[in-house]
Parts: sequence; C-alpha cells; structure tokens
Amino acid sequence: MNLDNKQFYITTPIYYANGSPHIGHFLTTTVADVLARYYRKRLGEENVFFTTGLDCHGTTVEQSAIKQGYTLENIQDYVDNRQVEWVEAFDKTNISYNYFVNTTHPKHKEFAQDFIKKLVANDDVYKALYKGKYCNGCEKFLTLSDLNEEGLCPLHRPDQVVEIEEENYYFKLSKYANRLKELISTDVIEIVPENKRNEILARLDGGVDDISITRPKSKVAWGVEFPGDSEQTVYVWTEALINYLSSLLINDKEGLWGGAVHTLGKDINWFHNVIWPALLLSAGYPLYKASFVHGFLNVSGQKISKSLGNIITPGELVTKYGIDGARYVILSNFPYKDDSDVTWELLDQKYNGDLANGIGNTFARVTKLAENSGLEFEISKANKDIWEKDWAVPFQAFRVDVVLQNIFLKASELDKHITEHAPWTITDKTALKEVLTCEIETLREIAVILEPFLPNTSEKMLQVLESTNIKGGTILFPRI
Ligand code: MSP
Repeated sequence: MNLDNKQFYITTPIYYANGSPHIGHFLTTTVADVLARYYRKRLGEENVFFTTGLDCHGTTVEQSAIKQGYTLENIQDYVDNRQVEWVEAFDKTNISYNYFVNTTHPKHKEFAQDFIKKLVANDDVYKALYKGKYCNGCEKFLTLSDLNEEGLCPLHRPDQVVEIEEENYYFKLSKYANRLKELISTDVIEIVPENKRNEILARLDGGVDDISITRPKSKVAWGVEFPGDSEQTVYVWTEALINYLSSLLINDKEGLWGGAVHTLGKDINWFHNVIWPALLLSAGYPLYKASFVHGFLNVSGQKISKSLGNIITPGELVTKYGIDGARYVILSNFPYKDDSDVTWELLDQKYNGDLANGIGNTFARVTKLAENSGLEFEISKANKDIWEKDWAVPFQAFRVDVVLQNIFLKASELDKHITEHAPWTITDKTALKEVLTCEIETLREIAVILEPFLPNTSEKMLQVLESTNIKGGTILFPRI
C-alpha cells in the first residue's frame, strides 16, 4: 500500500449473525487486528479505525431466528443475543476493534436507504424479473460460474439452493465493467495478493451481468425496506457492503474513508472488488484504497463445516493455548496466497515447537543468564524506526505472515548466538556484559515488534526486559 498514507481504516467482513465464530472468522479478524495495531503504532491511535461485526439481515438470519421460535416482532432480540457470543469471542482473543458493527443500527439503515436513493438518482436501477438459483447459505443469486459440476453451490448443502422467480430491482453493474477493469489493472483499486487480483480481472473479461439488489418483502421481510417500494427489501449483500461507510458515519469518522482497507476471504472477492466499487462509483463516493483477500483455512484437508463436524472455535484455542497462543497458531498458518490446512496435531506442534520450546525458551535463557550475571543493564527504549522503517515494507504489503516468520527467525538466531557465545563460560565482566547486552537488545526488539501479533506476551517480555535488574523465571508459554 502507498507509503504516504496518514490514516488507516481497516475492516473485516461482517459475519452472518446466525453463525458462530470459528477459526476462519478468527483468522480474518486477527489479521485485521494485527494491521490495526501496527498502524496505531505508526500513525497514532486517533488515525486508525478498525471495525468488525455482524451482518444481521437476510434469509439465513430470518430463517434461523424463526426456527428458534422468534417472530418478526422480536427478531431483534435474536440478533442481539447472537451478538453476545461474537463479541465475547473477539474480546476474549484481544481483538482491538474500535466499533462492533450491527446492521440493525437505525443510522445504518437510514444511510443504506440514502445510498440506494443515490443509485436510483443516477439512473442505475430498474425493475425486472429474476429467474434462477439462489443459495440461502451464500445469500447469493447463483450464476453459472458459481456452480460446481453437479450444478450445486460448492460451499453449501444442496437444500440451501432454491429456484426463484421474482420481480426485483436491478443495478446496472454491466455499465461499470470497463471502468472497473481499468481501475483494478492500474491499481487505483489495489487488490492484494496478485492471484486474487488476476482472478477478478479474468472474470471481468468474461462479461458482467446486471445484478439484483432487492428481494420481495413477501420472501425476505427481515431487512431494510427499499426506498420507494414498500414491497421490496434491499438485498442483504448490497446493504451489508454499505456498512463500511455507515460505520464511519455512526462514529463521526468519515474523514478516514480515504485510507480504507478491506480484509476478506477469497469467497467474497467479487462482492468486495467488483460490486462494491461499482456501487460507490454510482452513488458518487470515493473508492476505498485497497483490499486484502486471503485464502481459506481448512481443517484436516476439508472445508470448515458444521456438517463435517470439524469446526474449531477461537474459544477452544484459547482454552488450550492461551490468548496469544491462539493468535499465534492461526497467524502462523496464514493462507496468504493459497489455502492452508491445520489439524489439532499441527497446532500442538506449532505451539510447543515455536512458542514453548522456541521463543519462550530463548526468553527464559536470556533472562536467567542476565539474572545470574548479577550485572545491571541499560536497555534502550523502542524508537519509532521500528514501525516506520525496519519492519514497514512487509506490513505495507500486508505480509503479516512474513513479519511473523522473520520475528521467529530472529529469535532462533538469538538462540544460536547464546549457544555459540556460551555466556555462562565468560568470566570477564566487561566481555560478559557486552554479549548479554547484545542479546537482551535483540530480545527487546523481538518483544516490541511482537506487540501487534501477541500483545500480552510483548507486554510480559517488556516488563522483565525494561528493568535494570533483569530477573529470570517468567514462563511465557507453558508446554502442553
Ligand atoms: N456476511 C457476509 C459478509 C458481508 S461483508 C460486507 C459473509 N459472512 S460469513 O459469515 O460467511 O463470513 C465470510 C468470511 O469469513 C470470509 O470472507 C472470511 O473472511 C471468513 N472465513 C470464513 N470461513 C473461512 C475459512 N475457512 N478460512 C478463512 N476465512 C474464512 O460472507
């Protein structure tokens, strides 16, 4: 991303309120959290805004609520109850969001309607018949390219796909296809990484149809009413995308829109990087700056799914590995470009190998040696170069995976340094102080740069290292 950015607004997708948080959602939210924490260090707290939250309207939410005995009169209670679980999951894992989105907020609904009115005023909306497949799970009108060889949605159960024939309002997406191609290929809309950008460009080349942006109220009542037609509800995806602007408005932060970065999984690349910018162009809003589209995290070689019974929740990770352990095992398996795969065995190995026996052990070695030496150490404080220069390039390229690998490489080099210099054999105090100071300085830099990833660990390490009389004995990651 451009180096001259002074403000940073980072978003995650808003997750369907009827679902429960699993490690896939946790992955996107944690990576956004790392970036938010990094940019707060670099640009100052007031120049960063980070949102995550819930997508509360539409068929799946409505049907799930009704199945649980709610009615259209009290469905808001259902959504509010669902929110408790998500907020708890993200609070428990130290996600530093500034605002938790809930699309039933009256200001969001009002803003969404105003936004739609702008599309209408720009002559981009017309009424027509939709006839085809709809996947309730994806909340998506399925095109041929969305279907697998059997003509089904590759992501959801066959019974989630229904044939529909209904009158809807359409948005002239096709009108914007060439403009989007140009904006994406010239990086005005920056899509990272390259393979996700190419995917969009290839699909744009294949031709773009107009899209439906409403559903009949008789079928989907739980949503925002289409302005000007009380028989229609705004299609949940159109409304959900608008949250990225309404969240700023609700918080008096509109000024941050210019530095907006969306993080998302590959499944919703088209919505974010074709439909969303087209809507923005039509409504006359400036575009976001970039979007970071990661791959999928699978479990034991399969898609995470309730029916396969392979769901791992962030809560389960915290119970086993602690907060920072949970963050680490997921971030260290980050599917930057391609999908990645985890199993409980692999997560255990990561935790024990990299944290307990890795960085945790190195920290224990250095601090014990410092204590045993009986020496006092003047350790310098972190300076801004760490954020603005030393580690800036991979962060700007959203390579949080690379930063994390480099931090751990530094820690293992430090471990080798300790073994090679064997401070316990050095009898000369001046020489010993020199070797240990160098090792403590390296460890301090590791502690500082770990903050966006493992905030609690970073704090614990710095508490020990920033005292002149360093004491050993702090265990960062107990072995499991
Ligand atoms: N409600 C829409 C998003 C609207 S945004 C304006 C939606 N919700 S979702 O609950 O299905 O969440 C999808 C997102 O969750 C993915 O894009 C990704 O960020 C995250 N993940 C869900 N499962 C995942 C994996 N298995 N792996 C990685 N991330 C995945 O779509």
